[in-house]
Amino acid sequence: MPELAINGGSPAIVPPALSRVEYSKAARVLVEECIEAGALNQFYGGRHVRAFEQDFARAFGRSLAVAVNSGTSALHLLYAASHLAAGSEVLVPANAYVSAVSALLQCGLIPVLVDIDQVGWSMDLEDTRRKISNRTTAIMAVHMYGQPCDMEALQHIAREHSLAIFEDCGQAHGARSSDRLVGTFGSSAAYSVCCRKAVTVGEGGVVVSDDDVFIDLVRALAHKGKGQGFFDYRQLGFSYGMTEVQGLLGSDQVRSFGEEMAKRQRHAIILHSGLRGSEVQVPAVRLGDTHAYFKFPVLLPAELGQSQQQVVDAVRAEGAIVDPAHPCLGSIDWIAAETQSLCARYGISSPPDNTSHSTPVAADILSRTVCLEVGHSLTDEAIEGSLEALKKVLVHHEELVS
Ligand SMILES: Cc1ncc(COP(=O)(O)O)c(C=O)c1O
Repeated sequence: MPELAINGGSPAIVPPALSRVEYSKAARVLVEECIEAGALNQFYGGRHVRAFEQDFARAFGRSLAVAVNSGTSALHLLYAASHLAAGSEVLVPANAYVSAVSALLQCGLIPVLVDIDQVGWSMDLEDTRRKISNRTTAIMAVHMYGQPCDMEALQHIAREHSLAIFEDCGQAHGARSSDRLVGTFGSSAAYSVCCRKAVTVGEGGVVVSDDDVFIDLVRALAHKGKGQGFFDYRQLGFSYGMTEVQGLLGSDQVRSFGEEMAKRQRHAIILHSGLRGSEVQVPAVRLGDTHAYFKFPVLLPAELGQSQQQVVDAVRAEGAIVDPAHPCLGSIDWIAAETQSLCARYGISSPPDNTSHSTPVAADILSRTVCLEVGHSLTDEAIEGSLEALKKVLVHHEELVS
């Protein structure tokens, strides 16, 4: 049996270049034009950010969008413009990107971590119901790795309890829940378009909605609290603008998004069939849903539970692009600590338990999951190679456990 590369053996495959993103020739010409014209800012002669907003909204099923400098900024603006009572609680899955929670805390809102289900690894409906209190005002659904939450069920719960619904689609461009695009269920949604995302401009984010009053507020907050006029400083704001070059690259990415999505689906099929019968598990996709495959998550068997990082290191040494899953948010100490201090500030005597104890399924699954890269410049052959690399490490796993 060939030795693991991490132990001195030969790598299973030639490593692919890290997920390079293709932009069209036409976009490259426009970048040059932008620079020549000195029009790098949407308020100084630019048109590309506004065009990107329209393209993005249309592609992802909403009528309005504001493009900003990051997905974290998009989340911050979404919460800030939503008029939720300061000190109220927002339910967030423990399997989420940290910004869904940090932006809440920055807005004086209390995150309450909800567990995930064993089958699809998205927001568990029973735990969502259990964690609703008389201080809850909203649910933030996060579609991690492109796996859609059960949005119809969450909408039902939200209606029953008069809660707002938001979506973090930062990893779920083009995913569908019950055959409907994610990002269209809540009153608004935030996207990231930073590197490795299915639509990427390097760094960036987008807020989408159909509500023009909300979008006007998001736009004002994103641009120093300004209204239409140049010195029309109306309110306290941030400076979260996107550059024109990012805007034009964004439109270019939206145009080629269909191909990117099809490629990711094809790569997922290769990985699914290659891993069938092995000892790893992958999250199940509900009938009627479309997984967007930001990455392809793989749950390692229990005996490898303590070896997540060693498996990642070993698979990387074999030549594949792989990362550990994002940590369970309950395992990030400052989240529980910030929650406690915010509760103290609002005189709340029984803060939610935002440690991993309250989300045991997420804590277990995320500590055992590794995620294979499947998008952008990765070819079908590169995905076959990733499969080979992962399987080689799984065959040798005793060497990692010991
Ligand atoms: C689901 C999700 N939400 C939000 C973010 C934050 O986006 P950004 O890194 O653009 O600030 C990310 C980033 O990876 C993400 O994956």
